[in-house]
Amino acid sequence: MTEAQTGNQTGKTYTISDTANWVAFHRAVESARPDAVFRDPLAERLAGVTGPEIVARAPKAMRNGWPIIARTVSIDEIIATAIGEGCDCVINLAAGLDTRPYRLDLPKTLTWIEADLPGLVDEKNRLLANETPRCQLQRVKIDLADNAARAAFLDGVTAGRQRVLVLSEGLLMYLDDALVRSLSDDLKRAGVKWWVSDQISPAVRDMFMSNMQDILASAPMHFAPENGVAFYEALGWRVREVLSSAEVALRLKRLSWLMTLLMRLPLPQPDPRRLGTARWGAVVWLER
Ligand SMILES: C[S@@+](CC[C@H](N)C(=O)[O-])C[C@H]1O[C@@H](n2cnc3c(N)ncnc32)[C@H](O)[C@@H]1O
Repeated sequence: MTEAQTGNQTGKTYTISDTANWVAFHRAVESARPDAVFRDPLAERLAGVTGPEIVARAPKAMRNGWPIIARTVSIDEIIATAIGEGCDCVINLAAGLDTRPYRLDLPKTLTWIEADLPGLVDEKNRLLANETPRCQLQRVKIDLADNAARAAFLDGVTAGRQRVLVLSEGLLMYLDDALVRSLSDDLKRAGVKWWVSDQISPAVRDMFMSNMQDILASAPMHFAPENGVAFYEALGWRVREVLSSAEVALRLKRLSWLMTLLMRLPLPQPDPRRLGTARWGAVVWLER
C-alpha cells in the first residue's frame, strides 16, 4: 500500500492518509461538545475539509463517531497508566493527525516519536509549525509496510530504552495478517514493554467495506482475525486489558438510545477470543 494509491468509483479519490482526517474530524466534533470527554483544540484544523467530507459521504448509520471517541479515551487512559508505571518513550506508529503530545498532561522529559507516511508528516508539520508539544516530540517519515525500514527505525528509537509503549491506533485493520505478524515480531525487541492497538471483528470490517467501499477503495480493511485477541497470545503477547468500544462508549454516554438499550439488555457480550459473526471492536493492551 503506498501513499500514491487512490481511487473510487464516484469521482473524489482518497488516500490511506486521508483516513487520518476522518478520525481527526470525529475528535473535533467531540471537542466542540459542552460535555466533551476530551478536548483536542487542534483537531478541527487538522481534519481540514477532507475529514467532514468523508463523514458526510458515509451512510448515515456510519457517521457517528462513538467508536473513535471510545478508542481515544481508552488509549489516553492507558498512556497515563503506563507513564505511572515508568514508561520512558511512546512510539506512535501511523500517528496520523493525533495530537496527544500537545493535549495530554505528559512529563516534559518523555520522548514521543510519531511515525507516518511522508506526505502526512509534511502536512502535519506544516499545520502544527507554531504549536508547542508538552514533551520531547520527534516525527519520522516512513512506510511501515517496508519491513527493512521498519526494523531499522525500531532499532534506532528503542536502543537503550527499557519501558517503551508502542501505539498502532487505527493502523492494523489496513494491513494483512502477514504484515501484522511481522510487526509483532519487530515489537518483541528489548525495550518494548507494551503494545496498544485497536481491534475489529470480521463483521465490523465487512460492514465498513460494504458500506464505504468507494471511500475505502484505496484503503481497504483487511486485518480482523476471528480469534480476536488470541491472535496476539499465539504470537507471545500477554493481554493485559481489552476495552470493548461499545462498553466504553456506554460509560461515556456516546451511544444512540437504541444501542444503549441493546447494551443494557442482559445478553452475553462477544467473546474477544471467538468473535464469530459479532460486531465488535476494542482497544487491546498487550505486554511482555
Ligand atoms: C485511520 S488513520 C489513524 C491515525 C491515528 N493513529 C489516529 O488514530 O488518529 C491511519 C493512519 O495510518 C497511516 N498509514 C497507513 N499505512 C501506513 C504505512 N504503510 N506506513 C506509515 N503509515 C501508514 C496513514 O497515513 C494514516 O495516518
